[in-house]
Amino acid sequence: MLIKKPADIRTSEITSQDNYLNRRAFIRAGSIAGASMLAGPAFSAMVPDKRRAKLAGVSSSDFSTDEAANSYEDITTYNNYYEFGTAKDDPYHNATDFESRPWSVTVDGHADKTGTFHFEDFIKPFDLEERIYRMRCVEAWSMVIPWVGISLADVVKHYQPTSQAKYVAFETLHDPVRMSGQRRRVLDWPYREGLTIAEATNPLAILAVGVYGETLPNQNGAPIRLVVPWKYGFKGIKGIVRISFVDKKPRTSWNMATPREYGFYANVNPEVDHPRWSQARERRIGAGLFTPKQATLMYNGYGEQVAHLYDGLDLHKNF
Ligand code: MTE
Repeated sequence: MLIKKPADIRTSEITSQDNYLNRRAFIRAGSIAGASMLAGPAFSAMVPDKRRAKLAGVSSSDFSTDEAANSYEDITTYNNYYEFGTAKDDPYHNATDFESRPWSVTVDGHADKTGTFHFEDFIKPFDLEERIYRMRCVEAWSMVIPWVGISLADVVKHYQPTSQAKYVAFETLHDPVRMSGQRRRVLDWPYREGLTIAEATNPLAILAVGVYGETLPNQNGAPIRLVVPWKYGFKGIKGIVRISFVDKKPRTSWNMATPREYGFYANVNPEVDHPRWSQARERRIGAGLFTPKQATLMYNGYGEQVAHLYDGLDLHKNF
């Protein structure tokens, strides 16, 4: 993955927690007027109005962190989505015209229920929850993002995987006409990711369909992407079109590209350096140039919920 120079560091302010908590209250009250009032003009500039829609019926979650969330601007202008270019602001510029509807998701492999579903039907059986998660990128920066999503564990259970299903594999849309970055072979398209069944059914894992109470912006993976907050960001595959229950460890994009640098597990682990840089500390996007980096926490601070998944596994070998 490319690393950015200090000159690329964004200095915009983090949304204050008070403001953000106010925003959450508005979201719960279903007040569109309230939300856009708080948001101000900069909020709408990041994503065209025609692509924005408020999500109804979103409940809050005990899994949310109390840390201040990053601004909508940070979240929508500093992205990795190589289907739309490799620079951090490429997805913001190049994904604006991407039409993410109609969209369908195929579920296949070792499961009792399989099929291809319209996105709207795919998410209908599940509850929408806001999950404010700390996110840590392998490039040693982090953000706090108020996702709206559905529980991946609920999705897995719904499709009834058989005992042969040991892993869940995910694939992004492959459409070089609509995704300009796919015209270059920077990765072996389509983008692929995978989790063990135990990881996929951990209560923390979600499929996100929104951010800040609204539908997911294109640059963040519209209409549906994976969020696994105890792993490095690259596991969070965007623009998902296929979910497969498989018996063998699936191939994953960054592992295929540079296996020495990116493993299958990709758990946030300050003790295992990336071959080219330390993972001990991280820079919080939006915190300002002069704010010192903060210590990276094992499993990104979610150890209580997930450490047991890796009991007995040598995390230096299984990175
Ligand atoms: N998904 C696809 N399809 N293509 C990508 O290039 N980049 C990954 C991940 N998901 C990527 C992807 C990486 S490296 C990161 S850090 C996160 O998306 C960033 O998600 P965000 O832009 O919403 O913060």
